[in-house]
Amino acid sequence: MALFSWSEDLSVKIKSIDEQHMKLINMINDFYENISNRSSKENISILIDEMKKYTFEHFSFEEKYMIQFGYADYEAHKKEHDLFVTRVDEIEKMFNDGKFFVSLEVTVFIKDWLRTHIQGEDMKYSEFFIKNGIK
Ligand code: FEO
Repeated sequence: MALFSWSEDLSVKIKSIDEQHMKLINMINDFYENISNRSSKENISILIDEMKKYTFEHFSFEEKYMIQFGYADYEAHKKEHDLFVTRVDEIEKMFNDGKFFVSLEVTVFIKDWLRTHIQGEDMKYSEFFIKNGIK
């Protein structure tokens, strides 16, 4: 069973963003599966890298529209994105230095953060983005 399943309560009612969130959820599940199966360090490094790149892409997508349309909560939202990026960078560094055994705890942290962020901060922009024509 997947660690993190998509459900309607995660929908921000914007197709492009829901699809990006679904992709992130799939990546987290893939990461979890690889850890569970004791995949190689190389494979896990690649997955961390891919998740970082895609997270950056997704955050940039949201931030671009927040700036473009003058979203009032932009600063607070960006702060959350930046904190997450910093945390994942720390985890990656520890992993690469061999100081940290990438465990299920890390995956659970990433999963919980994403769920809370989507249902909290992302949900707040939903109406505003829809009004500005984002689909
Ligand atoms: Fe969907 Fe603000 O991340």
